[in-house]
Amino acid sequence: MCHGIRGSFVNDVVTGATTTRPFVAQSLDPARYGSQSAPRLAWLRPAAGLACPAVGEGDLDDDDERALSELYDSLVHDLPETCAVAHLAQSLDGRIATARGGSKWLSGSLGLRHAHRMRALFDAVVVGIETARLDDPELTVRLVAGPNPVRVIVDPSLSLPASSRVASDGAARTLVVASASRVRGRTRVGDAEVLPIPEDARGILDPRAIVTALAERGLRRVYVEGGGVTVSRFLEAGCLERLYLTVAPLLLGSGRPSLALPEIAEVSEAMRPRTRQLRLGEDTLVECVLGGA
Ligand SMILES: NC(=O)c1ccc[n+]([C@@H]2O[C@H](COP(=O)([O-])OP(=O)(O)OC[C@H]3O[C@@H](n4cnc5c(N)ncnc54)[C@H](OP(=O)(O)O)[C@@H]3O)[C@@H](O)[C@H]2O)c1
Repeated sequence: MCHGIRGSFVNDVVTGATTTRPFVAQSLDPARYGSQSAPRLAWLRPAAGLACPAVGEGDLDDDDERALSELYDSLVHDLPETCAVAHLAQSLDGRIATARGGSKWLSGSLGLRHAHRMRALFDAVVVGIETARLDDPELTVRLVAGPNPVRVIVDPSLSLPASSRVASDGAARTLVVASASRVRGRTRVGDAEVLPIPEDARGILDPRAIVTALAERGLRRVYVEGGGVTVSRFLEAGCLERLYLTVAPLLLGSGRPSLALPEIAEVSEAMRPRTRQLRLGEDTLVECVLGGA
């Protein structure tokens, strides 16, 4: 657990508001948290409970705002030092995008700000190559204050275009996780660094090996942002502490699925995580607690 340091009362560095909540402002031990994580956690601990995306917007009532604030606090304080969490925004019928890959904008503005806040709370943001290819995302923190995470693209065959934003815009460091057997000596895609990981017989890169390789580079707190295939692989591998699903009130009726796991025969075999729900405007954010945190 990342726990146990008493803090002082601090001003909200994000909104300018003053809080009466105790936060930790001192730096953390790099030997314990890694050189990347230490300054990030030191920054986040004072900011986390206050950097609520809803502050000042008037879209959330006090209870919803408090619940969201507690969620961010918990993500900073209660997760293991090395951890992965994931988030997907989906329709009521469990789709994250149209069949052609259109996903703008499935969730509302509060959901979008939530996604940016999540990026700021983690050392690395991970997406699959289909998301990188179809969306050409920046994966930076723009809608809230906070540090950009390192961007990680899971791309077994190194097909990410060198011209893609994450490999060319210089906004943050980018790693491309690729199959060791397919790297063939390449060390870069544009500005991005290649990180080889062994693949299994099905061509799958073990998400646990990805988390370990990132932790070895000081990126201990990993946020998996999609798409459905990538999040499903992390979930199936049992390496997610928490899964967040933002459910938007629309029916797509077709399109790319949210989670897709190996078939089960009976409902009794389903995962039954501890859950809680929060309102994000018209959307509902469901927290699934999967790990031991
Ligand atoms: N609503 C949301 O929250 C949200 C979030 C993000 C993206 N999206 C949308 O989702 C769509 C893309 O999602 P998607 O599910 O189709 O694809 P994806 O998860 O973005 O990418 C899947 C691909 O990534 C590679 N990959 C991921 N994990 C891997 C692993 N452990 N081992 C080996 N390869 C791995 C594989 O590439 P290879 O095929 O090369 O093997 C796989 O086919 C886009 O339309 C995007 O707009 C929506």
